[in-house]
Amino acid sequence: MKHGFIGFGNLGKAIYQGLKDNKGHSFAYASKSNLHTGIKSFGNLSQLTSFADVIWLCIQPQNLIEVLTQLKSINLKDKVIVSPVAGKSISVIENYVGKNVTIVRIMPNLAVAYKKSVTAYCTNNKQAKLFKSVKKNLMTLGKVVELPERHFDLFTAIFGSGPAFLLTILQALKNKISELGISDREANDLLIELIIGTITYFKENCTQKSIDNLIKDITSKGGTTEAGLNYLRKNNLDQLFEKVILEAQKKSKEIDK
Ligand SMILES: NC(=O)c1ccc[n+]([C@@H]2O[C@H](COP(=O)([O-])OP(=O)(O)OC[C@H]3O[C@@H](n4cnc5c(N)ncnc54)[C@H](OP(=O)(O)O)[C@@H]3O)[C@@H](O)[C@H]2O)c1
Repeated sequence: MKHGFIGFGNLGKAIYQGLKDNKGHSFAYASKSNLHTGIKSFGNLSQLTSFADVIWLCIQPQNLIEVLTQLKSINLKDKVIVSPVAGKSISVIENYVGKNVTIVRIMPNLAVAYKKSVTAYCTNNKQAKLFKSVKKNLMTLGKVVELPERHFDLFTAIFGSGPAFLLTILQALKNKISELGISDREANDLLIELIIGTITYFKENCTQKSIDNLIKDITSKGGTTEAGLNYLRKNNLDQLFEKVILEAQKKSKEIDK
């Protein structure tokens, strides 16, 4: 299978890293600057699309229309377009390339590079052979979930932006770790173990216990965890996080307009 990336920034590179060791695949890209090294590049989209079976739209939402305008005059009937572009619906792409082109809208996150993404997908052509191949590829890159397109904004807020929200909490913890006088590297190692330990605890118990109960099991009456949690609750952390997700979801909806 031949993959052509239009745009080769953070996400294009992450998808490439996740797929590059799969047997029988080859890769190329075309970007604004074409300055990226390590994989084949093409100077225009016409050359890239004649090379590729799968065309990944790894560009920012504000660049989508200029790219689709270039794709409009190219015959893409035997190709599949995969779009991770936040907030942009399949119908926006169909308006330029036509309804007879197979389009797969996805929402991955950067963990795709390590085959640990959570990726939602939907398509305008479930019967297409190339859609089935794309789905197979996505399944090698982590967990996948088929989702109606109307839910993509919320999914994007939770799973696309989610790593950044979780890392923000990690940063707050790391800021305090610096007071322990240990090296940056050691601080990172300790934080990684903290997260792995927490995830393992969740993974091992989540079918028997709710998250609330898992928290209760860490919280001794009158202890340190309880003191911290009381402060979080008094300051409405739950509501704050709900707002964070709502704001991200709202932005995704606005982009579509
Ligand atoms: N980053 C994430 O975690 C993430 C997660 C889920 C979805 N997404 C979605 O993925 C898309 C890409 O995100 P990103 O973080 O990879 O963006 P990025 O790092 O800013 O990369 C954008 C790429 O687009 C290229 N580009 C700009 N205009 C172009 C044009 N006219 N023709 C061809 N290429 C052009 C740039 O080229 P140069 O490199 O040559 O400048 C760059 O390689 C976005 O729509 C975003 O919503 C991102």
